Amino acid sequence: MSEKVFIFDTSLRDGEQSPGCSMNLQEKLAMAHQLERLNVDIIEAGFPIASDGDFEAVQAIATEVRQPTIAALARTNRADIMRAWEAIKMAQKPRIHTFIATSDIHLEFKLRKSRSEALELAIEAVKTARDLCSDVEFSAEDATRSDIDYLAEIFEAAIENGATTINIPDTVGYTVPQEYGPFIEKLLSKIANRDQAVFSCHCHDDLGLAVANSLVAVENGCRQVECTVNGIGERAGNASLEEIVMTMHTRKDRLAYHTDVNPEEIYRSSRLLSNLTGSSVQSNKAIVGKNAFAHEAGIHQDGVLKNALTYEIMTPQSVGIISSTLVMGKHSGRHALSKKFEELGYQLDKEELERAYFFFTKLADQKKEIYDEDLIAIIQDGIKTIPDTYKVNYVQASGGNQEMSSAVVRLEKGEELFVESAFGDGPVDAIYKAVDQITGMRGRLLNYSVNSVSRGKDALGEVFIHVRFNNRSYSGKAASVDVIDASARAYLNAVNKAFYEKKGEVENESEAASPKKGKVQHKATGS
Ligand code: KIV
Ligand code: ZN
Repeated sequence: MSEKVFIFDTSLRDGEQSPGCSMNLQEKLAMAHQLERLNVDIIEAGFPIASDGDFEAVQAIATEVRQPTIAALARTNRADIMRAWEAIKMAQKPRIHTFIATSDIHLEFKLRKSRSEALELAIEAVKTARDLCSDVEFSAEDATRSDIDYLAEIFEAAIENGATTINIPDTVGYTVPQEYGPFIEKLLSKIANRDQAVFSCHCHDDLGLAVANSLVAVENGCRQVECTVNGIGERAGNASLEEIVMTMHTRKDRLAYHTDVNPEEIYRSSRLLSNLTGSSVQSNKAIVGKNAFAHEAGIHQDGVLKNALTYEIMTPQSVGIISSTLVMGKHSGRHALSKKFEELGYQLDKEELERAYFFFTKLADQKKEIYDEDLIAIIQDGIKTIPDTYKVNYVQASGGNQEMSSAVVRLEKGEELFVESAFGDGPVDAIYKAVDQITGMRGRLLNYSVNSVSRGKDALGEVFIHVRFNNRSYSGKAASVDVIDASARAYLNAVNKAFYEKKGEVENESEAASPKKGKVQHKATGS
């Protein structure tokens, strides 16, 4: 009889805190809704004490996403725990996740605390959390490099004081399956009250063993796996959710465990995450990489055509990659587009369909064949986003190795048009300088990348950027058959986020100061 393993997704916490994966509130909410559709059991929504932005995002997720448990991370101090609780208390199923490091190296050099001091802190934290919330997880950071008897002692005390889940992280991705499995088995045997808690694993991928280690942890008693979509996370990342889920799904014959995750939502979750963060998935990544189901060698193609099982251990459809029957082109109407989106798993309301159709017709004028990836890019790019304060009306840029790059940009803001030109280090830099002259906000580009999302010479190019305005970093993205156009629109996407946030702040401040006066309009700084 197969036993259930709980899937604890930490894409929005451990994943989001890794370089290049940051998301704003709207983006985190969109991802949390998708994780709900994916049917994960627990969403770790963030680390509320880390920043006001983190707090607000966790709170918004706790308010809107009702099906899964919503966890918030806290160190073992009262301020962290209170902040975490404040952020999740309205969740349908809240969980406080508190942690402290237990290895001697972390205790001595990072925390400068003795084992007994850490034990006291853990007990106090679990008690405080449990007074607030009936679902409390306790993690021993760097557990795999901790003394096993001390670990057993701290876990037993945590359970005694109310922890309902006990997490045994391989924080630095150092363990190997041959060690982690017996370690967990022995550890559990030393914890007298082990039947009063669910044990969990949390593996990092520094040696590429996070998934293997997680599976061996399950084999040895863990019934919760902490993981992330696309395996994003600190350094080399966390165990990849899709690999864990699909291994259990595909090798039911060998592994007597299952998850409640809906595998058909895997591909969409992967695409959404890389679209939101700009952190693209390597082509040969298991399950969700571009080549995961591509057969190039003639002998393989021949085999697959005769019987797919010759080289395919699972179908692309089983993870939600749909080879669609509807071919979309210039003459397709709204009805066909709406049906096509349904096939791809998106239910659009009237307004969303109108916007999607607008982008679709623009694309169909530029491109002969429209692939599913193009449509997903349209929907994830242009539909549920923040309002466009500025829109690109016209962009022209030139460069080369013989002359200085220059650009002319015309932006729309409501009924008004603003035009500027600028020189730059390359055409993209020139565009961004011209935009800055119009908006009056100086951006510092932190990161710029361009990927092709579909096939052919007229493939859609997706541009992702991270840009800093007023000491805050914003991501921007846009897709177009023209990289110059996509670059300009990606920048505007980030600019509009900055304006939106600024506008919200001005409104909040003004409402707090004089609630009856109504909303304060943000003044345009453009010339
Ligand atoms: O890797 C780790 O140890 C963590 C803990 C906070 C669970 O992320
Ligand atoms: Zn971690």
